[in-house]
Amino acid sequence: MKAIVINQFGNADTFYETELPQTQITPDTVAVAINAFSINPMDIAARAGYLQSPFTDNWTFPLVLGWDFSGTITQVGQNVTKYHIGDQVFGTLPSNHAGNAGSYAETAVVDPASISTIPAGMSVDQAAALPIAGGTAYQAIAQNLNVHPNETILIQGGAGGVGLFAVQIAKSRGAKVITTASPAHTALLQQVGADQVIDYHTTAVSDVLSSVDAVFDTVGDIAGGLTVLKPGGKLVTVGGQPTPEQLALPDKSVSFQFSHSDTAVFDGLITLFTNDQLHIEVQSLPFTAENVVKAHQIIESHHTTGKLVIHITD
Ligand SMILES: NC(=O)c1ccc[n+]([C@@H]2O[C@H](COP(=O)([O-])OP(=O)(O)OC[C@H]3O[C@@H](n4cnc5c(N)ncnc54)[C@H](OP(=O)(O)O)[C@@H]3O)[C@@H](O)[C@H]2O)c1
Repeated sequence: MKAIVINQFGNADTFYETELPQTQITPDTVAVAINAFSINPMDIAARAGYLQSPFTDNWTFPLVLGWDFSGTITQVGQNVTKYHIGDQVFGTLPSNHAGNAGSYAETAVVDPASISTIPAGMSVDQAAALPIAGGTAYQAIAQNLNVHPNETILIQGGAGGVGLFAVQIAKSRGAKVITTASPAHTALLQQVGADQVIDYHTTAVSDVLSSVDAVFDTVGDIAGGLTVLKPGGKLVTVGGQPTPEQLALPDKSVSFQFSHSDTAVFDGLITLFTNDQLHIEVQSLPFTAENVVKAHQIIESHHTTGKLVIHITD
């Protein structure tokens, strides 16, 4: 199989294309021909050598990075009954996948508990964009914050992979959604339902907001979020580590979410998509090492719009 790999940790331009043997399925897994994969900030950390155990436990060079994918099932393990050859699915690979078993490749072996079937109307690129970013947003908004109608939520970083899904999930639950972004992203955020977009370059959230019911922080500004959270309110962050003082606040709940996307979370996202409540904003690039380098560099700029996807085949 063709794969885009690195032979050492380092800068984005270390990716190159190579041929590797396909991973073999087990009785409990399925093999997919990958249609598309998306790139997340955690891939950038992985490439630079910043990730640790359990992610790195089974890694060897040349290393195939990547977790998110959409794919077409080509083989089914004998214990798997839910999926069949030809099914089009999307999902994530195990956190601790082997060095030759990431998603920047033409094939992968996957756990059926970490995939769902692509619904009608969703492209393979959109499906590949969903798993980590969509799952993270869904867990935060629908599960951890359990946002209700008529609540006001601040989502810091609305235009990124996670933020753009979070804005829409909160909106679908009837909340008033306020978000922070650069001016170039205001129109898109309003289109997907944001009630107020704050330009964080010129305006601190505390200048214009107070007493919001919930905060979802995707950028690491926990202190800023806390300044506008009402007593009794809840802040969930995926962008930074709360300090011991923030975790111990008597009147506000602060927590770091370590996300784990599974079929139940994916099915929640599929329902929103089929109800026309989830627009999936993707920029798709063809499957070359140059485009993987480009995608990593764009994400490192911290100004992506939605998700970056590498397209292999329909
Ligand atoms: N804990 C977990 O399980 C978990 C899971 C997934 C992701 N994460 C983390 O969550 C973070 C977000 O992930 P992502 O995929 O959404 O990243 P991303 O797509 O790279 O986010 C880029 C976006 O961040 C916005 N941004 C940057 N600085 C900002 C600021 N100070 N205020 C407001 N917006 C700002 C940019 O908006 P503008 O261009 O409009 O400025 C851009 O659209 C990353 O740190 C990632 O590692 C954690």
